[in-house]
Amino acid sequence: MLSKWNLANNNIGLLWRMTGLNIILITLLISMSSIVIYNTACTLLEEMTNADESMQVLFSDTLLSYLIWISLSIIFFGSLIYFSIMKKIVKPIKRLARSTKVLQNGDYPSPIEVNSQDEIGVLTQNFNQLTYILKKNEHTRNKMITDMAHELRTPLSNINGYLEGLKNGIISGDAALYESLHKESERLILMINQLYELNEWNIGGKSKTYEKKCTRVEKLLHDCIQLFKLELDKKNIDFEILTEQSIIFIDEKGIRQAVINLVQNAIQYYQGEGKITLRGEIVENEIIIAVTGPGQPIPIDKRDLIFERFYRIDGSRNDKTGGVGLGLAIVKEIIGTTFNGNVGIESENNIHTFWFSIPRKYTEC
Ligand SMILES: Nc1ncnc2c1ncn2[C@@H]1O[C@H](COP(=O)(O)OP(=O)(O)OP(=O)(O)O)[C@@H](O)[C@H]1O
Ligand SMILES: [Mg+2]
Repeated sequence: MLSKWNLANNNIGLLWRMTGLNIILITLLISMSSIVIYNTACTLLEEMTNADESMQVLFSDTLLSYLIWISLSIIFFGSLIYFSIMKKIVKPIKRLARSTKVLQNGDYPSPIEVNSQDEIGVLTQNFNQLTYILKKNEHTRNKMITDMAHELRTPLSNINGYLEGLKNGIISGDAALYESLHKESERLILMINQLYELNEWNIGGKSKTYEKKCTRVEKLLHDCIQLFKLELDKKNIDFEILTEQSIIFIDEKGIRQAVINLVQNAIQYYQGEGKITLRGEIVENEIIIAVTGPGQPIPIDKRDLIFERFYRIDGSRNDKTGGVGLGLAIVKEIIGTTFNGNVGIESENNIHTFWFSIPRKYTEC
């Protein structure tokens, strides 16, 4: 309450200080002009006319009272106009000060209405944007911690339960049990590695120094698919690469990781018939890379959600195909944060095309 009063008091202080300064300036200017006018008029009357002394006194008294009244009126109305203009200017500053105080206390103020496009309007807009980003980041961080705790709990509880059973002699260990425990621990390691990667692109994304170099898109896509050659052969899946002979200037590591995650999904969730196609093309001002293939159904309302951290479609929450749910979130992070690009999915008859695009201006070789 006290701080609120102080804040208001300080702002009123600023308004009154500015108005007081203005009154002093107007008074000084008007007084100086009045003295000059008064003296000039009296001298002129004395030198140029034959008016007697009583006429001169009457003239100078009348002139003086006019000058005093006119000066006082100018000072009064001038200050009144100045005060109301200043009040308007100070009002948004006052609101900004109140909102920053709220922010300082750990809360998020509601957005401040922006009524002008001048410097204060821009400052207010920037402040609103800053508050929005801070709020969003905190929400993401909290969600991430909750999701992580939730995801880590299940495999850890499983491992813990089995180890307790083994320790107490309630169950006896065999190859199948050890393999299942090993699988759970591998899943945990995978999750930690993915989280580390996500964090690296997320936090380091903006400050990272990239190792950009001229890269042939065709070679990059070939290299990526090569990593999955064994798996593709094993599952008897055909693939093709369709790309122009383009060379881009890019941080290869990030793009490679994004393509790998998409190809991995295309193989992991492969369902039906048909080949997996990798496309690399330049459309207008963007480079578009897309991975297309037949896959498990993805309901329309889940198409945005699968790019969120830890989100998996229920059907893929089984041992055979279930991943951690971070692969697409990593793609989104790499492409969005690092390359200022976009990611998306198009789907028809369960043939899914996962794509990402990067503005060409960052990739001119
Ligand atoms: N090509 C695809 N076909 C069908 N469904 C897919 C495809 N790619 C992703 N999905 C769905 O989107 C979900 C999220 O994918 P994402 O790659 O983010 O996580 P994940 O594959 O489950 O785990 P990981 O972190 O190991 O990649 C998957 O669980 C799956 O349900
Ligand atoms: Mg995946």
